[in-house]
Amino acid sequence: MVKVVIGTQYGDEGKGRVSHYLSAKTSMVIRATGGNNAGHTVVANGKKYAVHLLPSSIIRDVKSLIGPGVVIDLNVLNHEIKEMESEGFDLSNRLFISDKAHVILPHYIELDKLYETFKKDPVGTTGRGIGPAYEHKCRRVGIRMIDLFLSDEELRDKIIENMKVYDILVKDGISVDDVLEYCKTNFDNLKKYICNTQAMIKEAFDNNEDIVIEGAQALGLDLDHGDYPMVTSSNPNASGSASGSGVGPTLVDEVIGVMKAYSSRVGEGPYVTEQDNEIGDLIRELGHEYGTTTGRPRRCGWLDLVLINHSKYINGLTSLCINHVDTIGKLDKIKICVGYKKDDKVFDYVPTDLNGYEAIYEEFDGSWDTNGCKTFDDLPDNAKKYLLFIEKFTGIKIKYIGIGADESATIIR
Ligand code: IMP
Repeated sequence: MVKVVIGTQYGDEGKGRVSHYLSAKTSMVIRATGGNNAGHTVVANGKKYAVHLLPSSIIRDVKSLIGPGVVIDLNVLNHEIKEMESEGFDLSNRLFISDKAHVILPHYIELDKLYETFKKDPVGTTGRGIGPAYEHKCRRVGIRMIDLFLSDEELRDKIIENMKVYDILVKDGISVDDVLEYCKTNFDNLKKYICNTQAMIKEAFDNNEDIVIEGAQALGLDLDHGDYPMVTSSNPNASGSASGSGVGPTLVDEVIGVMKAYSSRVGEGPYVTEQDNEIGDLIRELGHEYGTTTGRPRRCGWLDLVLINHSKYINGLTSLCINHVDTIGKLDKIKICVGYKKDDKVFDYVPTDLNGYEAIYEEFDGSWDTNGCKTFDDLPDNAKKYLLFIEKFTGIKIKYIGIGADESATIIR
């Protein structure tokens, strides 16, 4: 059984929490796309773990893979591994890094920030070198994890080729020696984890093992299906995540779309249901909506079901996981966007250029308390009405309901 956990909104929906929860009943979890622009928080046994590159399953005794579609900052990965080791976790038979995954080199971080200054409307990237990593990968001059095994001379030649455009753009910047040093110093600690993960995936299928594919970012940030150009540089949709792991689409059994009972967005770009007012401020405080990666306050707003339906078809969602149902219930009145409006025309799909669209809302009664609820039936009536409306509107079964930060606060339907 293969389950893909995917973000349906603009990221930060709580994917890590779900994939960690599912990892209890699986033997392999594969992180598929993006890099340390992602931040997954897992709260288990009352302890909080924040990971950016390691799969959220890392605190469990399952095979945690970093797939070929991921881009890896070696310093960050080493730091996360060391943090886990200092917490007493032995990763030696647990972490496996694809030798095909591309390395985020130090000058990519500089380029990421430089490219933003070239733009009239900057994207508001996380500044982690993600875009330049995928750019170099596409230009076919990227450095892959397997290249770290090369001799110094061979790796140096590759780095020289890689840095040709950078050297034209930036005078007296980061040198070939700096990049070589970065690769070499980090390699010692990482080499035991680097392998051909595809062989492991074959073995898992041969043995009928269960696999969870852990998506990062979300559909609203997808390079092809999001709000281009205010997007990330990978395809964090279900097909992109399957591909970034090394699993074909016909092998996927379930695609779980993760969403919040409201919405949030970090970075720039149009956001139809944004509440840039006291409601947005209240949601931010109640939901602790500050970036795990950058600490930036997230823009907050109402749930947008037009966007979820957009997600439905592109991701092929088979079920939904709705998080923060406890959080939104703290408001008296809650709104859900059920359509867009522009120049008196109504839209039930996401237009290619989202600028200038207004939301059409339905209003719901809030003021619910989910404390102590263990089943859907235990939920207060207003919460049930809210959830059933979402289910009816999208036509997708809500299978998981998050009612608290700890993963034990999950209702399964
Ligand atoms: P980049 O991925 O750093 O290039 O940033 C591109 C856009 O995606 C920016 O608006 C970021 O804020 C956003 N972004 C990237 N990763 C995440 C994430 O994990 N959660 C939320 N937003 C993200």
